[in-house]
Amino acid sequence: MAKAAPVSLKKEVEELREKLRHHEYRYHVLDDPEISDAAYDALLRKLKDLETAHPELVTSDSPTTRVGAPPREGFQTVRHTRPMLSLDNAFSFDALRDFDRRVREGIGRNSIDYIAEHKFDGLSIALWYEDGVLVRGITRGDGTTGEDVTPNVRTIRSIPLRIEKELLKKAKVPASFEVRGEVMMTRKAFEALNRSQEQNGGKVFANARNAAAGAVRMLDSSITARRRLDFFAYYLLTDGRAVFPKHSESLVALEALRFRASSDWKLCNGIDEVISYCEAWDTKREKLDYEIDGVVVKVNSIGIQNELGFTSKSPRWAIAYKYPARQETTVVNDIIVQVGRTGALTPVAMLEPVQIGGVTVSRSTLHNMDEVQRLGVQIGDTVLVERAGEVIPHVLKVVKEGKNRKPFRIPRECPVCHSKIHKVEGEVAYRCLNTGCPAKRRESLIHFASRHAMNIDGLGEKIVDQLVEKGLAKDVADLYSLKLEQLAELERFAEKSAQNLLDEIEGSKKASLPRLIYALGIPFVGERTAQLLADRFSSVGELASASEEELYEVEEVGPKVASGILEFFSEPANRQLIKKLEKAGVRPTAEKRTVKSNKLAGKSFVFTGGLVNRTREEAGEIVLQHGGKVISSVSKKTDYVVVGTDPGSKYDKARELGVSILNEAEFEKLVGVR
Ligand code: IVH
Repeated sequence: MAKAAPVSLKKEVEELREKLRHHEYRYHVLDDPEISDAAYDALLRKLKDLETAHPELVTSDSPTTRVGAPPREGFQTVRHTRPMLSLDNAFSFDALRDFDRRVREGIGRNSIDYIAEHKFDGLSIALWYEDGVLVRGITRGDGTTGEDVTPNVRTIRSIPLRIEKELLKKAKVPASFEVRGEVMMTRKAFEALNRSQEQNGGKVFANARNAAAGAVRMLDSSITARRRLDFFAYYLLTDGRAVFPKHSESLVALEALRFRASSDWKLCNGIDEVISYCEAWDTKREKLDYEIDGVVVKVNSIGIQNELGFTSKSPRWAIAYKYPARQETTVVNDIIVQVGRTGALTPVAMLEPVQIGGVTVSRSTLHNMDEVQRLGVQIGDTVLVERAGEVIPHVLKVVKEGKNRKPFRIPRECPVCHSKIHKVEGEVAYRCLNTGCPAKRRESLIHFASRHAMNIDGLGEKIVDQLVEKGLAKDVADLYSLKLEQLAELERFAEKSAQNLLDEIEGSKKASLPRLIYALGIPFVGERTAQLLADRFSSVGELASASEEELYEVEEVGPKVASGILEFFSEPANRQLIKKLEKAGVRPTAEKRTVKSNKLAGKSFVFTGGLVNRTREEAGEIVLQHGGKVISSVSKKTDYVVVGTDPGSKYDKARELGVSILNEAEFEKLVGVR
């Protein structure tokens, strides 16, 4: 057991936490960091180390505790302090004027002060703070009761886990209060998520709202953490009532408490100013890093709000003005197919060009045949197309069937190399399996060179097209035998840039093992999976000869990923490619693990629940250092299940199967660490 921490240490820990809270605020709320990510990580690590050495100093509001709660079996329902109502909608400025008239007539005044705020398109959440500490996060649910999603909201970094006493005092807010607001995903986070979902063969989300809502309701909060959510606050309550006489004062207080509030709100004197605000933001909203779908208009005076009261479902003192959707109808002139890196055929609708919100849209991906069928779209149909923010436009539905409509069929032959198209059992996609297909070659080269893969700067699409066309790069390994003269001959390529590219290619030989595994473009192996595979296998050669069982031992590898890997390496051309890469000098190996003993050889461990003295990853590393294995699910063959606090279903399973169960102390004794 660790010795009790001296007072000075306690102070150091608290100071570190304060620093971390400050930097979380600068980064996630103000979007204006003062230190680098690496410096932040170093501070966090320092705190973690201190907390590991002195577990008695860990508090539930420490910045180290955002992620790590074990997955739960279900949500608990919680009653809201005061119903979370929805708002009436206004779809025109006339409707806004009607609202204003009702308000003025209701209280007999000529002009009203309104607050106009962004209407965030996300999921509403109530946060309860007791004594300045976040104790609960609850979804709106049916408005009266919601679901307790506390571990999930704790992972959102723009939500303070704790608010300093001085801040509360300065803002004149009691220490126990409630904040309501919207959980959202920025466009950037949304696009990054969809990119990785696509790479991993996961579900692609139609919009940021759905992705955010799904993330908030995950039973496993570590998945929520990966989705990079944000929170915008718009309501402050104590004991179910507004804290200040004016809504504007609540917004100021929320900012003072370091929440991210809708900082673009405006006090409007009369409805005309509200309308100007709506007009101004209709064009400006494109440039925001998050999606807003309208403007919420609220009577500023809480006294007047109370006088007006509620109808059965919404307040009479507020309304949501909705921007017209960015949708247009147009005709599908053709449906073509594109061949991707993995050979998957993607149907693309070629549209009669149409202006949507100031941008000309002439094509839209239909993703796959299932989507074509779901929409029931055929060539010649008139469709409704939506363009939301920066997201690529998508077809919402068929609005009118074309007179001479023609169904789209997946071609039997690859449109590029004319080899036969295959449909893989249990998969949505149709694929061209010819490894030499120029379309696949092109996409593989682009992926191989991309920033998160081998990071070959200067190898853009135009150059790749020429390399493929001239037969200079039949596969990615050919890049390493390119000559200066060959590159200099390419169109629009000076000798200097040719040399730069060669240097870049040469430099990429030093790329790490996870990068190379990712760069190979193995179906369903995205960046994260590549990292996990590199932790387990020490080279691409070792991965290539892994058995299905060995693959399953890697966390997060299921049947789909395993068969993607096995299929990829069973293809002779791909095996050849690995050899060719090795020969060219591309042969990264995993950083060698320090082997301390062999005493756990052949023993397999499963971890469940939170450990106190180290993270599960660190504990797993100790097992590996002593020759053991860490696996993700419990079976009869599992040797030990190490159980921490709040264990998940793995604990029950271990008991059911009679697997040896260790607590943290017993585990430490077994492996010989403190
Ligand atoms: S105030 C009683 N302010 O829109 C007033 N809501 O359609 C409660 N929303 O349920 C809501 N941005 O989820 C408010 N600035 C904002 C908002 C906002 C988005 C959401 C919220 C609400 C829904 C109503």
